[in-house]
Amino acid sequence: MTPGAPKHLVSIADLSQAEALALLDSAAHFFELSRQPVKKAPDLRGRTVLNLFFEASTRTRTSFELAGKRLSADVVNISAQSSSTTKGETLRDTVATLNAMQPDVVVLRHGASGAAHTIARRSRAAVVNAGDGMHEHPTQALLDAFTMRRHLGSLSGRRVAICGDIQHSRVARSNALLLSMLGARVHFAAPRTMWPAVPEALGAPISDRLEPALEGADVVMMLRIQQERLGSALIPSAREYAKIWGLSLARLELARPGALVMHPGPMNRGVEISDEVAESPQAAILDQVEAGVAVRMAVLARAASADTALS
Ligand code: CP
Repeated sequence: MTPGAPKHLVSIADLSQAEALALLDSAAHFFELSRQPVKKAPDLRGRTVLNLFFEASTRTRTSFELAGKRLSADVVNISAQSSSTTKGETLRDTVATLNAMQPDVVVLRHGASGAAHTIARRSRAAVVNAGDGMHEHPTQALLDAFTMRRHLGSLSGRRVAICGDIQHSRVARSNALLLSMLGARVHFAAPRTMWPAVPEALGAPISDRLEPALEGADVVMMLRIQQERLGSALIPSAREYAKIWGLSLARLELARPGALVMHPGPMNRGVEISDEVAESPQAAILDQVEAGVAVRMAVLARAASADTALS
């Protein structure tokens, strides 16, 4: 990285293994802080974080806002519905306009794959990708890895099954990169209609049945079936999908005893995951949410740590 250049986080590929581990260690500190009665740290005092969300979000948006506030930053939240994009302003012009207000960090969620990359090339503030289309969701992968490490310790040699709509999942793509960087062995499972065009690019085996991925898994991560795609003939129906691809207690028995169950949310209960599994002691789904604030505090602290002084 050029000295003084903004520390963007667009893809997990922006991080070395040492940087990823440093972020996870830093998140562990913020995780403990977030469990204290007073949750504030002074790290970003005087700094400005803009959260720019062009897609719906509950977990990511709220946790980035809390993360910025717990670090004492000035945090501004902008949603597509309340921005001048509704009057036809382009994303590039919107971000150029906001950059003129001298933010230190711009957090961007957008429906277009590559949106964060495009903005990062033009932004003097550090850009953090909060999910771009079908490309990546790097802070989700970091919080997933954080949760796994809290429960399992080192990820080296651990088996992680990632199951569901792999083709459209930015969570799957970021996790594939990060988990293999941390030494885990990932096994994907998806219906053929939800395989990526080039499965080899995942860098891990993929099955067209759930069972080979579940057998002996230390972690089972179920992905959201995007209800908006149900009409596009990728799957016959939600009911049929649940029958063949849903994680039930019986199917979970194929994994290691006590295997961790994860889901990035929002869940479609009764479709990709049964109520019983989602409520079971093995489910770490709310642990993932808690980790999200701590991990995003670490990510914002890293992003603001570079010399982002504007010209
Ligand atoms: N996991 C995730 O990105 O959830 P939200 O869409 O609610 O932010």
